[in-house]
Amino acid sequence: MLLEDKVAVIHGGGGSIGGAAARVFAREGARLFLAGRSLPRLEAAASAARELGASVDIAVVDAMDQAAVDRHVDEVTDAAGRIDIALNAVGFDHVQGLPIAETSLADYLHPVTGYLQTNFVTAKAVSRPMLAQGGGVILTISTPGARLTGSGLIGNAAQSAGLEGFSRALAGELGPSGVRVVCVRPHAMADAYDTSYTGEMFGRIAAAGGIGRDEWLAGLAGTTLLGRLPSLAEVAEYLAFAASDRARSMTGVISNLTAGALVD
Ligand SMILES: NC(=O)c1ccc[n+]([C@@H]2O[C@H](COP(=O)([O-])OP(=O)(O)OC[C@H]3O[C@@H](n4cnc5c(N)ncnc54)[C@H](OP(=O)(O)O)[C@@H]3O)[C@@H](O)[C@H]2O)c1
Repeated sequence: MLLEDKVAVIHGGGGSIGGAAARVFAREGARLFLAGRSLPRLEAAASAARELGASVDIAVVDAMDQAAVDRHVDEVTDAAGRIDIALNAVGFDHVQGLPIAETSLADYLHPVTGYLQTNFVTAKAVSRPMLAQGGGVILTISTPGARLTGSGLIGNAAQSAGLEGFSRALAGELGPSGVRVVCVRPHAMADAYDTSYTGEMFGRIAAAGGIGRDEWLAGLAGTTLLGRLPSLAEVAEYLAFAASDRARSMTGVISNLTAGALVD
C-alpha cells in the first residue's frame, strides 16, 4: 500500500476533495485525522474511510485559527507520535464571474485573505512536528485561476497565484529539512458540484449567463485538451501518490490537473 503506516491530517476533511482524499488515503493504509468545520460532514467522511479499514479520528477545528490548529496538531502528535502528511482541502464560497467594476474590495479580498490565511495557519502548525521528525509532506490545492485570463477571475486568480507562490517558497524553506511541499491545481470537478461550495458559486455564474449547470460544465470541459474535466477520484489518487514515498523527489511543484485547460 502507498501510505502504509503514514499519519495524515486533512483540514477540510469533510469536504468534497478532503473526503475523496480520505477514502484513497484510507485504502492505501494511512491513519487519518480529519479536521473541519461541520461535524456531520466529518462523520460521513470518517465512516466512509473506516469502511476501507482505516483508523480515523475527527475534530471540529477552525482552520483559520492558528491557536486552534496548533492545539489540534499537538493532539495528533500526542496520539500518533508524528504527522507525515498534511492536506489543506479547505474551501468556501466567494465571488467569481463579476467584472472589477462590480466587485467590492471586500469580495475581492475574501478568497485572497481566506485561502492564504488557512494555508499559512495549517502549514505553520504541521511544519513544527515535520521539522522535528526530519520529514513530511504538505499538500496545498490551487485552482486554474492562477494562470487563466479573462473576466470575473481577479479574486480567484490572486488567491490561486498567491497560494502557488506560497507553496513554492515554503518548499524552498522546508526542503533542506526533508519536508516536501506539493501544490495540486485541479480544474473544476463536475462530480464535486453537488457537495462543494463550487456548486453554489458556479451556479450563480451559469445563471447569470442564462444557462444551466450541465451546459456550463460542458462549456468548461470544452476548453480542455482532453475535452473533459477531472474527477474527484483522479485528484484524490494523485494526492495519494504525491504524499507517498514514490514521489520522494517531488517538491516545489505545481501539479497541473486541469485536463489540459492549461499547458506548461
Ligand atoms: N471543487 C472544485 O471543482 C475545485 C477545483 C479546483 C480547486 N478546488 C479547491 O479545492 C479546495 C477544496 O474544495 P472542495 O470543492 O473540496 O470544497 P468543499 O466540498 O466545499 O469542502 C470544503 C471544506 O472546507 C471546510 N471549511 C470551510 N471553512 C473552514 C474553516 N474555517 N475551518 C475548517 N474547515 C473549513 C468546509 O466545511 P463545511 O463542511 O462546514 O462547509 C468543507 O468541508 C479549495 O481550496 C478549492 O479552491 C476545488
